[in-house]
Amino acid sequence: MSTPVAVDGSQVPTYAVFGNPIKQSKSPAIHQQFAEQFNQPLVYRALRIETDAFEDRVNAFFEQGGQGLNVTLPFKERAFALATQASERAARAEAANCLIPLTNGDIRADNTDGVGLVRDMVANQGWALAGRRALILGAGGAARGVLQPLLNEGLAQLSIANRTVEKAEILAAQFANTGSIEPVGVGLEALQGQTFDLVINATSAGLNGQMPPLPGVLLSDRCCCYDMIYGAEPTPFMRWAAAQTPWAVADGLGMLVEQAAESFYLWRGQRPETAPVIQQLRQQLDAQSTSAK
Ligand code: ATR
Repeated sequence: MSTPVAVDGSQVPTYAVFGNPIKQSKSPAIHQQFAEQFNQPLVYRALRIETDAFEDRVNAFFEQGGQGLNVTLPFKERAFALATQASERAARAEAANCLIPLTNGDIRADNTDGVGLVRDMVANQGWALAGRRALILGAGGAARGVLQPLLNEGLAQLSIANRTVEKAEILAAQFANTGSIEPVGVGLEALQGQTFDLVINATSAGLNGQMPPLPGVLLSDRCCCYDMIYGAEPTPFMRWAAAQTPWAVADGLGMLVEQAAESFYLWRGQRPETAPVIQQLRQQLDAQSTSAK
């Protein structure tokens, strides 16, 4: 991959996202809009990487002058493993979605997913998180990636519930003594009769049109429900949540844009405006939804 050159002969800063699959990625469009806000040229590509080529491709990308890399499924753990430095939030997540080349040749791992989630809930949705009884559904990489920033928000309690209870228990134990509260790992059936003020879906069930079975979970009248995935139509979790008449329901589109904004900031030291980018993506999704009807 050659480094693009601007009309004045200077090299255009080059970024990319590596994943597999990657076809649906909105990251190139998001970063292009961020760069336009600052009137700066920038190249950002979405590249599908063969499973066994990931480390070689990362190293080659940086050797060729790449200035920052996002990493998505299924490579986030390997991105963390190959980096020579890591932020605390990436170390806690044991996964990186953002790699930053340093001048001494090191590659620094960071994870902007959790801060993206928290910023979308707090700044964009206007949900105050302090004091809430929170439930996170799922105990895979998506949940692990956001736990540390979530635990910094002054929640009253945090339950991690998973279909496979052992995974929830292990995850909760790994995040013990890291915040002011101790997360509790449970199975889904143990949620019967419990009341929550915040429910976050971090399972992949919605990708298959499903949602975790939640018999007997109670939502308080100020409960906010957040699905970390998004789509042109409300996800199964969002439809379930809306039927329980909670206070608010949101999908993960804002989180996607906020995690990208944090990556942009880590690479370039500038904070882009996220609201117009979220709005534009939402309009595109709405148009897809209308044309499918
Ligand atoms: P990711 O890294 O994206 O989180 P993952 O590690 O495969 O992906 O984890 C997916 C999560 O979704 C897991 O918590 C999984 O539950 P199990 O650990 O029991 O497999 C959860 N999940 C996926 N499909 C589900 C379904 N239909 N019902 C309930 N939980 C589901």
